[in-house]
Amino acid sequence: MKPIHVGLLGIGTVGGGTWTVLNRNQEEISRRAGRPIHITAVADRNVERARELTGGQARVVDDAFAVVDDPAIDIVVELIGGYTVARELVLRAIANGKHVVTANKALLALHGNEIFAAAQAQGVMVAFEAAVAGGIPIIKALREGLSANQIQWLAGIINGTTNFILSEMRDKGLSFDTVLKEAQGLGYAEADPTFDIEGVDAAHKATLMASIAFGIPIQFDKCHVEGITRLQAADIRYAEQLGYRIKLLGIAKRKDHGVELRVHPTLIPAKRLIANVEGAMNAVLVWGDAVGATLYYGKGAGAEPTASAVIADLVDVTRLHTADPQHRVPHLAFQPDRLSDLPILPLAEVETACYLRMRALDKPGVLADVTRILADLSISIDAMIQKEPDEGEDQTDVVLLTHVARERDVDAAIARIEALDSILGTVTRIRMETLQG
Ligand code: HSE
Repeated sequence: MKPIHVGLLGIGTVGGGTWTVLNRNQEEISRRAGRPIHITAVADRNVERARELTGGQARVVDDAFAVVDDPAIDIVVELIGGYTVARELVLRAIANGKHVVTANKALLALHGNEIFAAAQAQGVMVAFEAAVAGGIPIIKALREGLSANQIQWLAGIINGTTNFILSEMRDKGLSFDTVLKEAQGLGYAEADPTFDIEGVDAAHKATLMASIAFGIPIQFDKCHVEGITRLQAADIRYAEQLGYRIKLLGIAKRKDHGVELRVHPTLIPAKRLIANVEGAMNAVLVWGDAVGATLYYGKGAGAEPTASAVIADLVDVTRLHTADPQHRVPHLAFQPDRLSDLPILPLAEVETACYLRMRALDKPGVLADVTRILADLSISIDAMIQKEPDEGEDQTDVVLLTHVARERDVDAAIARIEALDSILGTVTRIRMETLQG
């Protein structure tokens, strides 16, 4: 059978993994795909290293556009990253009638609507399993495996770097800064870890999942994004005492009037399976009305786990290469002309229970003042910790867990609590999710 020809843009970590796994498992992959999948052209700035890796079995160039414009290439695999050149390359590949496989979550979160529309118009596929949660086939599960369901919500640990940092902070009682340095030393965190620790990477992935889960356009600009940089070891400890773990979650939830789309540190009950996902691992919990809870777990990054997703896409594209474009699985799971206009809700409308930590003077009436403010705003208290002040101190930490309340009311309560003379500094708020039902 005639092989399908792939042009690989970028042969770094994931590209190298893709080359290795495709060669190692070529025979089985070809039995699955129906024909051999050959990487026949590679573009990389480091031509020397690319030549060494490919050992003369592929044409190596430094100009990615030369691969995208090569008429012999059927599928372009984009592993360059970023939004600028990658966007041009992907759009040009599509214009040239080529299918695209990409791991680029940032590109799709920002320009996915444009890219999918272009692909639809050209009758080509853009596959992106590797863009969300690395080796976990979560796109396939949401788009195909769960297509009978009304998906109610999903919540994912979709950034390994931050999950590693939070696990270490909890295990060793260390501060965020100390663990971040450790993570960089181990190669988990990038030299510039901003996208990971500020929640941006997780927000890219959550935005893509929300689109596929609910059949809405991609709206990264509406996602609430909050990272883990302000989290203190004390919060992790208090959460533990209350029976919770803190995880950076990407959450997408269907409500009557819209969709909640948010990334933030979240208290979750320690007894949930997902609460025990440690280190750099990823997991996504999805709730469908028919199936109930389903949980997907695995490696969210790394050469071969991510290559696993890239190659699964290559197999899918190869199988459907000659199919009528109308008969392919839609990019965002729902037919493009049937996307819903369900809006993304503003954060003020979001409803969650909350953990509130404050530093209070140890004197009569302080707790009464705080609880009165909460009661005035109809915010009910679920649990509380108040430590005895340390020897010689006249102040202490007060930690409250509220029942579900609207964000706007919690904001108002926090402002009023912070204005009390007996409360020192700011109130730390961490949202809570029970991840049930
Ligand atoms: N930087 C990501 C993480 C992996 O730490 O999970 C690539 O999306």
